Amino acid sequence: MLERPILRGEVNFPLCLAPMVGLTHVGFRLLLKSYMPPGARTIWPTEMLNSRRLPHEVFARVPECSRHPSETDLVPQILGNDESEIARSVKRLDEEWGASGIDINMGCPVRKALSHNYGVALMGDAQYARDVVAMTVRHTRLPVSVKLRAADAGTDVLFRFAEGLVEAGAEWLTLHPRRAEQKRRGSADWSMIHDLRHVVPVAVIGNGDIQQADDVFRMLDETGCDAVMAGRALTARPWLLWQVGERLGWPAPIGREGERAPETREEEGQEFGRAVLKLIAILAELPWGEDLLIRKLRFFLKNACPWLEFGHALEAKMSVVKSLAEAQQVIALFFSQTQSMSPRTDLRY
Ligand SMILES: Cc1cc2nc3c(=O)[nH]c(=O)nc-3n(C[C@H](O)[C@H](O)[C@H](O)COP(=O)(O)O)c2cc1C
Repeated sequence: MLERPILRGEVNFPLCLAPMVGLTHVGFRLLLKSYMPPGARTIWPTEMLNSRRLPHEVFARVPECSRHPSETDLVPQILGNDESEIARSVKRLDEEWGASGIDINMGCPVRKALSHNYGVALMGDAQYARDVVAMTVRHTRLPVSVKLRAADAGTDVLFRFAEGLVEAGAEWLTLHPRRAEQKRRGSADWSMIHDLRHVVPVAVIGNGDIQQADDVFRMLDETGCDAVMAGRALTARPWLLWQVGERLGWPAPIGREGERAPETREEEGQEFGRAVLKLIAILAELPWGEDLLIRKLRFFLKNACPWLEFGHALEAKMSVVKSLAEAQQVIALFFSQTQSMSPRTDLRY
């Protein structure tokens, strides 16, 4: 169990996936779940969902809202600032979709979010941000959390801001300690995660620049955070969940009993091939149409390939495939040769 509760005490595993537009979809979540130790529970996000659209979506037809019946502990992320839209969105996410919690995005730095005054724009108005949490809490019985960035105006401002969110009812906070204008450049300043954990009384999830299992444990040790959230690295190394579980004494994932998690560059290279084939098989079951499925697969590879020794060659081969069946052949052939993965890569993308 974690020292401070996440999802009202249901979470017992210290690593989770980050919400990422175009990446955090049901296919990727199912791939990651296949690497989870049995019995381990963490939160599962969606990419950010706009609360202006959620009240009207036909969930089954919207890829970013797709979920599998086997999925539990889902905490969709919403973007919004209008009470009636938030109210209708969270009601539907709870009653029709099966959410276990709601995360509010206060970190999205894209121009559109700024012009609509949501995402990271909310960090410029502490009182309004607090109201957004309060209005969300008012309209749902589910636990509410917030994902935020470092404040442009400095850490004291961030801490007062975060305290306001907690007073308004946020049950845990996730911090990606980069300022909005940094987007994903520069490095994440983990000391801010440490300091925030000591300022607020709720669980803090640390996020930013995790690449391998050592980083997960280093972030937990250095910052005292309750759990770690990883984004880009989980595309390259979905078995990070297994590696972390193994070090904590959890059993191997179902179907991999008796095996050790991949460790060496070559073992990881081989596992990556296996993971991509698994992802293709999962995607092939989704009713999204071949074009979209291929685009999702390519985007996944674009994020993962910087860790792979000949990733650029694989990306080039995948840029011309026309179907999942063809993609599967390309991947199978590429990984029939020994491939190697780097423990670390340049994260400036
Ligand atoms: C392609 C992409 C899309 C993202 N979309 C979102 C999003 O929808 N909501 C959000 O809160 N953060 C989003 N982020 C930020 C990530 O959640 C995370 O904070 C960031 O990537 C740092 O973590 P990492 O270094 O482990 O990747 C996105 C990041 C990437 C790479």
